[in-house]
Amino acid sequence: MDHFHYLNGQLYCENVPIQELAKQYGTPLFVYSQATLLHHLRSLKKAFEEAKPIICYSIKANGNLSICRLLGEHGAGFDVTSGGELYRALKAGPKGAPIVFAGVGKTAAEIRMALDAGVLLFDVESEEELWTIGRIAQELGRRAPVALRVNPDLPPKTHVKTDTSVKGVKFGLDIETVVEVARAALGHPGLELMGIHMHLGSPILKTEPYRQGAEKAIRLIEQFRQQGHNIRYLNMGGGFGIHYRRDEAPPADAYAQAILPAIRATGCQLILEPGRFLVGNAGILVSTVLYRKSTGGKHYLIQDAAMNDLIRPTLYGSIHRLWPVRLPPGVPDRPPLDMNINPDQGNPFLDFEGSLRQDVVGPVCESGDFLAKDRPLPRMEPGDLLAIFSAGAYGMSMASNYNSRPRAAEVLVTDATHRLIRRRETYDDLIACEECCLLPAGRSQ
Ligand code: LLP
Repeated sequence: MDHFHYLNGQLYCENVPIQELAKQYGTPLFVYSQATLLHHLRSLKKAFEEAKPIICYSIKANGNLSICRLLGEHGAGFDVTSGGELYRALKAGPKGAPIVFAGVGKTAAEIRMALDAGVLLFDVESEEELWTIGRIAQELGRRAPVALRVNPDLPPKTHVKTDTSVKGVKFGLDIETVVEVARAALGHPGLELMGIHMHLGSPILKTEPYRQGAEKAIRLIEQFRQQGHNIRYLNMGGGFGIHYRRDEAPPADAYAQAILPAIRATGCQLILEPGRFLVGNAGILVSTVLYRKSTGGKHYLIQDAAMNDLIRPTLYGSIHRLWPVRLPPGVPDRPPLDMNINPDQGNPFLDFEGSLRQDVVGPVCESGDFLAKDRPLPRMEPGDLLAIFSAGAYGMSMASNYNSRPRAAEVLVTDATHRLIRRRETYDDLIACEECCLLPAGRSQ
């Protein structure tokens, strides 16, 4: 569900025409719908109502301060994975919002910063990290609250670059040895082992891995408790799927059914770390068509958004639905889909009358710079606007300045009003951290 819809052939975000936003703020432009964001937060709370979960929004999906603040004001805490994300959480979040800190390479400075901030839990990913956190906490006369992140060793379930719970990935502690690590932590004056953490991967369009992971967690919690640890938290991470092509993701209730039995069995407080589920369908990227070009039997639509704005197609081969902001006459308000195609495989978009298969590309100097390949689209003209859907998560947060392209602006819409929540970068921003200097000739010359 989202609040992007067509009215009289024009795409709207809530009650604002996208065309108006593009005119005012320029393109490429990220547009977010507040109602969609809050709808997803509410639907997650409702699905997991029985467990009253602590929902820690995963900032890596979209760290914009206004988005973090909005979610924080509506009861979310934060999942952070670096000092920078912790800084964002502290800037944006209401005071005292729960924060969990995951990541395989926390530095001593980040650990100190997190202890100062009073994080709810460190999600610990290796034995050496555990002892480092314990030592630093002890030096500060503190006990660090920790959860052990376990790799439950499940079969592959998503893109190889984002599957975090198959054997041999860098994340978490091996399920075979984690019980020994927990035993060694017992009585450590700088550590309080309070929970188990599992983030299975992202996105996961099936609920079975959550059921399997949660079952493994129940057994581990029993073992940790037998050792004498007071285990209070079960953090099942994020990874819930969203709709990229059609309605391919299970509803929040289905994920809840897979996870809640573990909460009933252990009595633990549930923590969830959704990122994509909350913001993914709440954002689109708007671009302007610059040129059309045909070569080698292919048709290219060259527009002003590129891999530096949305790298998911280039990096993972991800398929994002994209469609004109103003519908040409006779064009439906959604691309027709082949419902028999498995969402895990291939491009499910069908040719239709008047469509032309096109590669949608940007101005970046790489052949891998594309937003869509071989996509049946209506014929568009230079100056037309294109909407790239489901771009709210891992769009702007993974954007770069490659080819010295200033990063896009971001706008938040609520009902009929809109607000710039990140201005477009300028050329001065691009060089703001640099020195333009010459060094004296060195001896090796
Ligand atoms: N918790 C932990 C420990 C994580 O590593 C992640 C994501 C999340 C929560 C949130 O996952 P989500 O609910 O958003 O699926 N750039 C990739 C996704 C990488 C996800 C990394 N970790 C993409 O664009 O698909």
